[in-house]
Amino acid sequence: MPQGAKLDNVLQDLDRLARASGSVEDLMWEIVKLLHDRLLKYNWVGFYMIEKSGAEQSRMLVLGPFQGAMTPHTRIALNQGICGAAASTGKTVIVDDVSKDQRYLACSTETKSEIVVPVFVHGKVVGELDIDSHFHAAFGPEDRELVEYCAQLVGKQLEKSQA
Ligand code: SME
Repeated sequence: MPQGAKLDNVLQDLDRLARASGSVEDLMWEIVKLLHDRLLKYNWVGFYMIEKSGAEQSRMLVLGPFQGAMTPHTRIALNQGICGAAASTGKTVIVDDVSKDQRYLACSTETKSEIVVPVFVHGKVVGELDIDSHFHAAFGPEDRELVEYCAQLVGKQLEKSQA
């Protein structure tokens, strides 16, 4: 579990949510609400999940549970955006200044920085957790650990639900 005093309560609450949630969808809603409400620089928080039908090479990321303003990007190709980069490489992407990243798909003119963390099920990327901030370089090492922890909770619940 990630360390850091300021996040301890959030982490405890996440674990409680993971134990209590009725379904993976419920857990995803609880996570986006908790992160959006409690982490003041997390101004848009949402999951994108890779669609399950259609030819594998043309599957897209589809907007799932989210908190924040509605985004024009409800479907994103795996070769587009920061979201597509994280899903296609299976690696966390942190962008400190989105205006300097050619890949960035604008969601809000207020967004200054972004983190996208893949969600894995049995080692395969099935989706991701995307967070935008109105502040430059909002996502440091502790944030990365926290968001990766959230993505792992969802991945584990998905594995359990498919067992
Ligand atoms: N900025 C993302 C698109 C999703 S919105 O931020 C909600 C991207 O570049 O992929």
